[in-house]
Amino acid sequence: MEKNSDTMEKVVSLCKRRGFVFQGSEIYGGLKGTWDFGPLGVALNNNIKREWWKMFVDGREDMYGLDAAILMNEKVWEASGHTGAGFCDPLVEDVETGERFRADHLLKEAGVDADGMTLEQINQEIKEKELKSPKGNSLSEARQFNLMFETQVGAQGDMKSYLRPETAQGIFVNFKNVVDSMAPKIPFGIAQIGKAFRNEIAPREFLFRVREFEQMEIEYFVKEEQWESEFEKLRQDIVKWHKHLGLSDENIREYEVPENDLAHYSKRTIDFEYNYPGKGFDELAGFAYRTDHDLKNHMDASGTTMEYIEPDGSRFVPHVLEPSFGVGRALTAVLCEAYTEDEMNGEVRTYLKLPKHLAPFRVAVSPLLKNKPELVEKAREVFKVLKTEFGNVAWDDNGNVGKRYRRQDEIGTPSCIVIDFETLGQEAPELADTVTVRNRDTGEQERVAIADLINYLR
Ligand code: GAP
Repeated sequence: MEKNSDTMEKVVSLCKRRGFVFQGSEIYGGLKGTWDFGPLGVALNNNIKREWWKMFVDGREDMYGLDAAILMNEKVWEASGHTGAGFCDPLVEDVETGERFRADHLLKEAGVDADGMTLEQINQEIKEKELKSPKGNSLSEARQFNLMFETQVGAQGDMKSYLRPETAQGIFVNFKNVVDSMAPKIPFGIAQIGKAFRNEIAPREFLFRVREFEQMEIEYFVKEEQWESEFEKLRQDIVKWHKHLGLSDENIREYEVPENDLAHYSKRTIDFEYNYPGKGFDELAGFAYRTDHDLKNHMDASGTTMEYIEPDGSRFVPHVLEPSFGVGRALTAVLCEAYTEDEMNGEVRTYLKLPKHLAPFRVAVSPLLKNKPELVEKAREVFKVLKTEFGNVAWDDNGNVGKRYRRQDEIGTPSCIVIDFETLGQEAPELADTVTVRNRDTGEQERVAIADLINYLR
């Protein structure tokens, strides 16, 4: 099926209707750039994060987990450069309405790529192009707008802090703690999943650009001479991860950031882009070689050594490779990829073709009729066994079986199990203690013995 901006709208509407994602603070008119995850969204998010942790941390010997505080000493952000121009976006105002826009976005719409431009160059372009606001009014001069949310710590509010704009710095400031406590052999990585906050000027496109989001980040520490070979290995791991999310090859591409657009500390960066319906290819995850920039900055600013000591006594500040993933963008890509419409029994049906390891519910169980106690009792028995085994099992006895299938299809439940009179041995004795298992993608049904269900579903 061809996917376009209609598909995106349908995905967003399904997300709200079926309890994946709601607008933040909705009953008070919302808060721009924030979204709340409902029961199924939490389940899908948790599955993505669990699979990521399994693949990148538990599945390897060279990776160590971390969960650093969101609030950090303000000196962290001075040392990392986030308080300076490096973490600012160019902001312009509509002089009539006071509405604020990202100057680089307005320029892009006018056909100018402002990536890497200085503020002066941006202002020059605005002047030359006689750029107006979307309402046709004049624009103010562009100025730098820092994306960090500032906050005060302590009863007196005497200590300034920020909500972290990336999880990465929590890893760098704990580099020495992890080395001292775990004695890792280089190369090794430290991984973290957690919230990050950015006061985006123009939050937009559902979960794509928001003000509060989750990141899954790795800082992988290498010797300088190892960076190219380790970069290639991690690049391949990222490719595998995107396959594991069920994203098809044609919807993923690697964008090699040109040298003149690289951050000043990066020697190589690849953006992994996803082909979001109606939007086209845009960033899903980033992968950067950050040299020894971060550890050196923290070493200079804090006075704490960030050197790694080899068994032979030689010392050096490691170089860093950084795969950085946004959970919200992964969830959006997974939902867009899974969203499918086909025809079944002469009707259009919508279903999410989610991989089994990501579906909010692994399986749904229901009695054929909910007013027959003997069917309900047997179905409850099966439900209990599967719930103990898989955890994410749905009980569904609303409406008729056809409606239940449609409902489960729409939220991506891979299998539906129905307990009927045959299960009770009332129709044909040879079918006693067997159930109907219906496949989400094909709609086909099979008879499976209750005793074999767990293995069958696996
Ligand atoms: N530590 C490196 C870093 O934070 P980044 O490219 O700014 O790099 C990494 O962010 C990932 O975090 C992005 O690829 C994206 O998936 C996600 N991300 C960044 N800003 C976001 C935002 N405002 N809303 C949603 N996701 C965002």
